[in-house]
Amino acid sequence: MVNDAAAPREQWGSRIGLILAMAGNAVGLGNFLRFPRQAVENGGGTFMIPYFIAFILVGIPLMWVEWGVGRHGGMRGEGSTPGMFEALWKNPLAKYLGVCGLFMPVIVLIYYSFIESETLAWTFFSMIGSTQGLDQEGMRGFLDSYQDPLNGGVHAAWVPIAFFLVTIAVNFWVVSKGLVAGIERLAKFAMPLLFLFAVILVVRVLTLPAHEVVEAGVTTSYSPWDGLNFMYTPDWGALAQPKVWLAATGQIFFTLSVGMGTLQAYASYLTKRDDIALSGIATAATNEAAEVVLGGSLAIPAVVTFFGVTGAVAIAKAGNFDLAFIAMPLVFNQLPGGATIAGLAGLMWFGLLFFAGITSSVAMATPALGFVEENFGWSRKKGAIVLGILAALLGLLHVLYNTRGFLDEWDYWAGTFGLVILALLETVLFVWVFGPENMWRELHDGATIRIPRFFKFVLTYVTPVFLLVMLVWWTVQEAIPILLLHDKPESEHMVRWASRAVMLVILCGQLYLIKLAWARRAARQEVG
Ligand code: PHE
Repeated sequence: MVNDAAAPREQWGSRIGLILAMAGNAVGLGNFLRFPRQAVENGGGTFMIPYFIAFILVGIPLMWVEWGVGRHGGMRGEGSTPGMFEALWKNPLAKYLGVCGLFMPVIVLIYYSFIESETLAWTFFSMIGSTQGLDQEGMRGFLDSYQDPLNGGVHAAWVPIAFFLVTIAVNFWVVSKGLVAGIERLAKFAMPLLFLFAVILVVRVLTLPAHEVVEAGVTTSYSPWDGLNFMYTPDWGALAQPKVWLAATGQIFFTLSVGMGTLQAYASYLTKRDDIALSGIATAATNEAAEVVLGGSLAIPAVVTFFGVTGAVAIAKAGNFDLAFIAMPLVFNQLPGGATIAGLAGLMWFGLLFFAGITSSVAMATPALGFVEENFGWSRKKGAIVLGILAALLGLLHVLYNTRGFLDEWDYWAGTFGLVILALLETVLFVWVFGPENMWRELHDGATIRIPRFFKFVLTYVTPVFLLVMLVWWTVQEAIPILLLHDKPESEHMVRWASRAVMLVILCGQLYLIKLAWARRAARQEVG
């Protein structure tokens, strides 16, 4: 035990609370914003083939690996990957490799909270009717000025800054309350509401009457079913494209929250008697239902009904936010029922996004809080205040410079590429260094089901090889060109390099903190 001087580790209050918190971690903006866009851009129905293959061969196995690694470390007083890795591999290098599980959640937390703050802002705008009566151009101006506060326009610069600061404050207020009174309580309230809003909206969208849309002079009638049909029409040629496989695997990682360090942190508050096998799969299944059934039946069918297929594709391709923040409010404005219904629909859509976001962002804050608590004796509250202030300051860079590529860089290196690295490291450590038999036993301690043997084989051989191949492929296909800023406009180069430099400083700072923490541990051991 490292933190023998500190209070005993907190534990989850109830099984349902734990499952809701874990599902809250996984179900996020990725399910409702990222998924539909990825599917549309990567072959529609065909996308679902590599998507489900990745779900079975890496998604589910990693879910178990992370619950296993987390609980194993947590029982030894470790709430973040540096200590968890050391608990699996007695080697001085292990803790430094574990920096991934501190670095990525902090980085993603900062820009993710900025997007989350936008959903909060639009919830508010829907309530007061700010987007009512705007046409497409109007909506775009409304969004653009929010996203680029340095350029003026509809919103004053303090508006996005204020929504961002409020979002950060709410997040850190929740985590400062601790696991049960903060995160678990939030999940018990936000998750049911999120599902309720999503179901109401899906029913509304799927019962929309058909609309006449004029595309290149031809009038076609579109119903929501045409939207689903469009989204799932297979394009077999897509299967031969590496980029489709990378996108599908990337989506599985992001949506399940694997490869980040947050599931491990949540699992570290389990005990030996707690089940991993069934809870892990239940979390994964809940996330997939929320993504494929709900996430897939909202934005695309709604937008296709009002804008036609060509229009929807153009909007989806125009940018990450256009579908949710431009097209959806336009759809709401045209719903039968007038201003009240438009406002209510907007409130539910953006409110659901905000709840999906915040139950994920509090998870991202958890590893770093555990780290300072266990290694430097900080209280949750002190950790939350310090990390909250840092996140607020760094996040301002995103509020101000996101349109110039600042956010994009963090999203790629920490939110996409980095996930595969951590996933490969933890799989090798848990399966191979710790040993396949130990791994299998660890997953079954306290288990309420037996995991099919097939998965022992998958975990031992298929998952590590799959990850290794993906990593090499990803590096060659994408990471190197992106690193060299190929096909990025000259005008963005400076901001993008600055964005990387900031990440590098954070990474070095965290490596230094790990070194410091272990020096203290050694000193404490000598005294003890
Ligand atoms: N899974 C979350 C989503 O779909 C994002 C996330 C990634 C959360 C990693 C925590 C850790 O939006």
